[in-house]
Amino acid sequence: MNTTSSERILVLDFGSQYAQLIARRVREQNVYCEIVRHNITPEQIKSHNPSGLILSGGPSSVYEEGSPKCDPGIFEMGLPVLGICYGMQLMCDHLGGKVDSTHVREYGRATCTHDAPDDPFMKDFPKTAEVWMSHGDQVQSVSDDFVPLAKTSTCPVAAVKHKTMPVYGLQFHPEVTHSPEGWVLLRNFLYEICDCSGTWKLANFAQEMIDQIKAQVGDAQVICGLSGGVDSSVVAALLSKAIGSQLSCILVDNGLLRKGEREMVVEQFTDHFKTDLRVVDGREKFLEQLKGVDDPQEKRRRIGHTFIECFKGESAGIENAKFLAQGTLYPDVIESGAAKDGPAATIKLHHNVGGLPEELGFELIEPLRDLFKDEVRALGVELGLPEHLVWRHPFPGPGLAVRCLGEVVEEKLVVLREADAIVIDEIEKAGLYRETSQLFAVLLPVQSVGVMGDARTYENALVIRCVNTDDFMTADWSRLPYDVLATMSTRIINEVSGVNRVCYDISSKPPATIEWE
Ligand code: XMP
Repeated sequence: MNTTSSERILVLDFGSQYAQLIARRVREQNVYCEIVRHNITPEQIKSHNPSGLILSGGPSSVYEEGSPKCDPGIFEMGLPVLGICYGMQLMCDHLGGKVDSTHVREYGRATCTHDAPDDPFMKDFPKTAEVWMSHGDQVQSVSDDFVPLAKTSTCPVAAVKHKTMPVYGLQFHPEVTHSPEGWVLLRNFLYEICDCSGTWKLANFAQEMIDQIKAQVGDAQVICGLSGGVDSSVVAALLSKAIGSQLSCILVDNGLLRKGEREMVVEQFTDHFKTDLRVVDGREKFLEQLKGVDDPQEKRRRIGHTFIECFKGESAGIENAKFLAQGTLYPDVIESGAAKDGPAATIKLHHNVGGLPEELGFELIEPLRDLFKDEVRALGVELGLPEHLVWRHPFPGPGLAVRCLGEVVEEKLVVLREADAIVIDEIEKAGLYRETSQLFAVLLPVQSVGVMGDARTYENALVIRCVNTDDFMTADWSRLPYDVLATMSTRIINEVSGVNRVCYDISSKPPATIEWE
């Protein structure tokens, strides 16, 4: 836990796909929020000194054997509690409500009505509001200790409060965008029930981080690997602000970067931030390593290995280097099971977790480990990074190598790099860059027949891949307008020699993945 902000809310995670979203929504209301495991003890809760607790939803049924439970002692702590969906059912079950399995699993939009405008929890919540339901069980009736506050046509207790304790429940999900007014209830819980004052701001957080980094680092040198991506750029910007010349950045040019990427990083960090930036030209080395390799995992392995070699070589020359800065984010920390009192590690292991291995022998600095991606972006803007960098789509570590199918050779990279730059350029011109999550070109090891002028051609086929996703674990292909696709295709075929056919990938993940390799 890095932040020293005094107010905080804990979200007890019962396995909900929305636990992180709840935490983000709370932070959006300027209250710091952390996710903890569902069976955290009252003593552990006390050590966090929270202003309130939110019990998340979850996929289980309260009566199912082995379903996740909370310590009943948490209701005796006098802390405000908000139970959402499964969290509400669990709460009612503990405190005297009847939870029934509904015959039909309710999933989707519902209309919620209430007549309790004077209740502080319902303040300003419309009397009729659209809400998002997603549950199998629901609370059918509550004991005299509870007061129902709202209902839907199929759910008699859509919102509830305890008569004597500051305990509230919602059968629907206030945190999702499909409950457009849900934020009002979260705000009321924070400000009316938990008595929060909303002091958590990214700007204060940045200052806290800067003070902490200074104290941790002393007079040592910190190394930061720059990739051109958002996370490493924000880390470098933050460190540059905190420790100035004690920061040395390393950019390994592996020859697999996008068009203009190296130049952009150099301009940003040398000209703008005046950082000690060392560019390692590893282009030949990487290509040499990739010679004759067409297996994707082997490509990754060799690239990773060569990267470490280049990084190690460069960092060895940096005097008094004791720390390595990494752009680990809060979701990575949660999902790896490393958060204090956080939920246990889940199956989700992301490509981007990990980074450089411990073998480098540095102490790690991970200044973004309490932040969500959108907060990292906001912090980047706050630190003076340009919007186009802060909103960049993610780019995999192995770079263009996994988008140049089959063996990677320089001639193919040239083609791919140009085509990639065109698709990005066109999406920006269409004003759709921020509306899409990842867009790129993939060069296929396939040639097809074409005709140019009077001559027959036999050249490469290229694929445009564009997806929309919240978490990159699942994704849908973006419904790009035909005219944007048409311009991309025309420009690629006219401007990039070696390509005579352009296809658009219309597969979602799963079953396809985002990258082709
Ligand atoms: P997939 O292809 O698995 O990609 O659907 C999900 C996200 O991860 C990125 N990705 C990688 N990132 N090293 C990385 O740093 C990798 O080897 C790698 N493979 C995929 C991909 O770009 C997408 O954002």
